[in-house]
Amino acid sequence: APDIDVAKVQAHLTELNAIAARNGGTRKSSGQGYRDSVAYAKAKLQAAGYTVTEQPCTSGCATGAGPNLIAEWPQGDAGKVYMFGSHLDSVGAGPGINDNGSGSAALLETALTLAQQHPAMAARVRFGWWTDEEQGLNGSDFYVGSLSSAERSKIKAYYNFDMIASLNGGYFINHLTSAAAQPMKAYWDSLGLQPEENTEGAGRSDDYSFEQAGIPTSGYAMGASARKTSAQAAKWGGTANRAYDSCYHQSCDTTSNINATGLDRSVDGIAATLWKVAVTDTAPAN
Ligand code: PHE
Ligand code: CA
Ligand code: ZN
Ligand code: ZN
Ligand code: ZN
Repeated sequence: APDIDVAKVQAHLTELNAIAARNGGTRKSSGQGYRDSVAYAKAKLQAAGYTVTEQPCTSGCATGAGPNLIAEWPQGDAGKVYMFGSHLDSVGAGPGINDNGSGSAALLETALTLAQQHPAMAARVRFGWWTDEEQGLNGSDFYVGSLSSAERSKIKAYYNFDMIASLNGGYFINHLTSAAAQPMKAYWDSLGLQPEENTEGAGRSDDYSFEQAGIPTSGYAMGASARKTSAQAAKWGGTANRAYDSCYHQSCDTTSNINATGLDRSVDGIAATLWKVAVTDTAPAN
């Protein structure tokens, strides 16, 4: 799997921060900052060769919410779909660069890298950037509800990324001991990170929309407003008894609120997982 250049992920975050700055300091789902965020990602994905769809959220979302953005790489067995998703909206109070520019930018750069490398594919890869997560997981819930049961059963796993660059963060994996989590865990294990279960985030991000439909889910997170324990500070560094992200849902969630080391470890683990589950293993048999 490729080593994703974290500087390229940070360049996307700089663009998302500028989009918020031009739109009243927010990328909330019902605002122009959200629509401009969709347009930014959509243009890059289309240019790279993705099949890109804007899905309007016509029920359950806030009034005026912009669309979900879906991008499928048009290679590999369409009966075996692996999805990678993140919410692209912020709260009204801030630009949402860790929450959740981080997951959104990491997936965008992973998608662009896949297109650039165009390896032989064993499965389909589909990316989702969700609208209106902050009002109740609404964009992802609408997406899952829009699928037929046949389409839902083709999705072998959904991987979610929400807050993957928290400045005082930890290394958390959703459903750590599940089969779906194993490639994500293997990558962080290879770095010696000793990941823990994402207890803070259980049921609180878009993976829950897929989980409720019976689809296996996992993902990375570095933590929100809960506080780092002294045991966690001892193994990961950072400050005990402080929030993982002290700018959670605030105006200070800007490009200054990004843990570049954590972001790099996360995006490289996303690529490792995608390659493991969906790219044809071309190593010679013996
Ligand atoms: N889903 C929460 C949000 O977007 C983020 C969160 C993730 C909160 C994990 C707690 C745990 O605000
Ligand atoms: Ca890297
Ligand atoms: Zn949030
Ligand atoms: Zn979030
Ligand atoms: Zn769960």
